Amino acid sequence: MERKKIVAGNWKMNLVLEDALQLINHINENYEEGDIELIIFPPTPYLSPISNLLNPLIGLGAQNCHQEDWGAYTGETSMKMIKEFNVKYVLIGHSERRKYYNESNKDTALKVDKAIKNGLIPILCCGETAKERQEDLQLEVVGKQVSEALFHLEGEQLKDVIIAYEPVWAIGTGKTATADQAQEMHSFIRSLVKEKYKAAISHEICIIYGGSCKPNNATELFNMPDIDGGLIGGASLNAEEFLAIAQAF
Ligand code: PGA
Repeated sequence: MERKKIVAGNWKMNLVLEDALQLINHINENYEEGDIELIIFPPTPYLSPISNLLNPLIGLGAQNCHQEDWGAYTGETSMKMIKEFNVKYVLIGHSERRKYYNESNKDTALKVDKAIKNGLIPILCCGETAKERQEDLQLEVVGKQVSEALFHLEGEQLKDVIIAYEPVWAIGTGKTATADQAQEMHSFIRSLVKEKYKAAISHEICIIYGGSCKPNNATELFNMPDIDGGLIGGASLNAEEFLAIAQAF
């Protein structure tokens, strides 16, 4: 079976509401139905108005959620809450959350479980820092992030999870990983899944790339055999650029 192709836009903490709605209108107007799954990750307060506007063929996701359903967690939002707004996906363990909010591999595992319990698809983000790559630790670091967050799952659960490899040194820096560097890591992650589960699951799981992915480098990245799409930050704030990346397949 052919794997899904995914292009997801992570808006992070950007855009006033008016600009966010305008961006959605542009995406809706220029979106052409095809075999690529487009997903938008707006800031949490915009999920409600965007869910009313977004073309239903485009997926909606949250950038983060708490690992409990309810409780005394001031300032947090649960997966149960975001589900009210047609949300289907949740980003888990983005490097900015690991860096600024000390999210650990253990936290990501709890969030992955909660997402699955709530019927949401987790997108587990992983990636090494520049220092870790200089020290040639990238495979070790990413292997640990992936196995500690995901490898307690049953194969049937894992095959629906999406993994986003995002080298920290490439995020928002304009320094994209080369297609070969990205392919090497994606193939490594797939081999870990194959070792732990069955080959069939390793063929089915989607692994997307993030980190300064733009219209001018997307084709080369997406042509790699183990790269199933992209998680786009900066370029997803512009409808033309975002859709051009989707067309790069
Ligand atoms: P970028 O961000 O495309 O701006 O590098 C990617 C991400 O953080 O998901």
